[in-house]
Amino acid sequence: MTLLPHRAKSVARWNSRKKELAVAESVRITAGNQEFELAVTTGSEGERGIDISNLRAKTGLVTLDPAFMNTASVESAITFLDGEKGILRYRGIPIEELGQSSTFIETAFLLIYGHLPTSDEAQKWEHLLTRHSMIHEDMKRFFDGYPMTAHPMAILSSMVTSLSSFYPYALNAKADEFRDITIIRLIAKLATIAAFSYKKSIGHPFVYPRNDLNYCANFLHMMFAVPAEEYRPNAVAVKALNLLLILHADHEQNCSTSTVRIVGSAQTNLFASISAGICALWGPLHGGANQEVVEMLEDIRKKKLSAREFINQVKDKKSGTRLMGFGHRVYKNFDPRAKIIKKACDDVLLQMGIRDPMLDLAKELEEAALSDPYFIERKLYPNVDFYSGIIYKALGVPTAMFTVMFALGRLPGWIAHWKEMIEDPSTKIGRPRQIYTGPRENHYLPMDKRG
Ligand code: CMC
Repeated sequence: MTLLPHRAKSVARWNSRKKELAVAESVRITAGNQEFELAVTTGSEGERGIDISNLRAKTGLVTLDPAFMNTASVESAITFLDGEKGILRYRGIPIEELGQSSTFIETAFLLIYGHLPTSDEAQKWEHLLTRHSMIHEDMKRFFDGYPMTAHPMAILSSMVTSLSSFYPYALNAKADEFRDITIIRLIAKLATIAAFSYKKSIGHPFVYPRNDLNYCANFLHMMFAVPAEEYRPNAVAVKALNLLLILHADHEQNCSTSTVRIVGSAQTNLFASISAGICALWGPLHGGANQEVVEMLEDIRKKKLSAREFINQVKDKKSGTRLMGFGHRVYKNFDPRAKIIKKACDDVLLQMGIRDPMLDLAKELEEAALSDPYFIERKLYPNVDFYSGIIYKALGVPTAMFTVMFALGRLPGWIAHWKEMIEDPSTKIGRPRQIYTGPRENHYLPMDKRG
């Protein structure tokens, strides 16, 4: 089944783009008394990477790079990020422009298929995403098995992997005739699953999707409507949600995306690969930070600490406290998403007539941190998670759902990376090496001989 006929076009574009990447220089390394030449691959924005894929074969050496601080694991044409200049672009388009003019589902199309949709493609895409938003009725019963207190990320990841049991033809990751419909189903249903997991947590009946609403309005409807009264999504909330989802939609090879790619490299189906990404995102150092930020702000207020007192606590390494929502592996100047979200935060609260002391506290913390040598020296700036929770709170989204909101936003990026990988004929299963530091050969001792 071919739903979106441009697919072949975008793959061909990607393959020809890869050929354009020039291998114009090389580096020489000396190992023992031999010299070896290694090619340098240059990306379209000028980043250069030493190609070490033959290093072990040539020299017997591997590279050691814990946490991949210095390793480009792939060549990818999806998202460009410059951490020094604070640049983020999806398929070449600056995040600021997309945030201003695009919709989340249009941005999803852009990330996944490599170009902005034509009006025909956009109509079809929107129609299909609407038509596939219901989940199988049997899946509703799965929610009954969870305790009321279940974290919605636990529900989300298991529900997503469960989708593969309803669409068995999606199990063959390489079968490209089912790829588009699987992608559409996943994007359409994730919003429904997310909203149902919230309804479950508060003991409310599930609210079915509505086809007359756009993606963001429909999500708010499924979250906040109740059968007892009519629900009209608030236009300010819809716009804010649209912006937040766009800003979260991709971030190249972050922890969860790399997880999706490595799981998918075993030709694991899309649902299961994305489920793994959801689990990776859950961690407090990654997407879980947005929940941690609001909990941290609440805690500071409860303990009646001033911003300065809390910053001093963070600087004392023995306290084990981090300023959540601050710092980033790649951004060492500013996070362009945080800049947009901070402004949106002011606008949304003003338009909704909300005065949230948390926002004042967040601003005080930011100011105190940015003028403190500890943060200046380490180049720690607010990241995407610092202000996003305050907006979600204003929309009525409970804290435990914040990381689910991140997952909803990040889904197109995960899918785009999975698709890029699965359609690239040169993809091999991901399998890092290690430097073994355990005991040397040793022998089994019977119980009576052990010391
Ligand atoms: N508060 C206090 N100190 C910090 C913080 C922070 N938020 N972040 C980094 N540092 C210090 C850290 O202690 C270390 O100090 P030292 O050099 O004295 O040992 C130095 O800065 C470098 O930190 P790192 O942990 O080695 O840096 P990293 O690149 O491995 O970690 C990070 C990046 C995002 C995990 C980290 O900055 C952090 O834990 N931030 C708080 C959690 C957070 O907000 N995460 C969301 C990230 S953005 C969204 C996403 O990707 O999901």
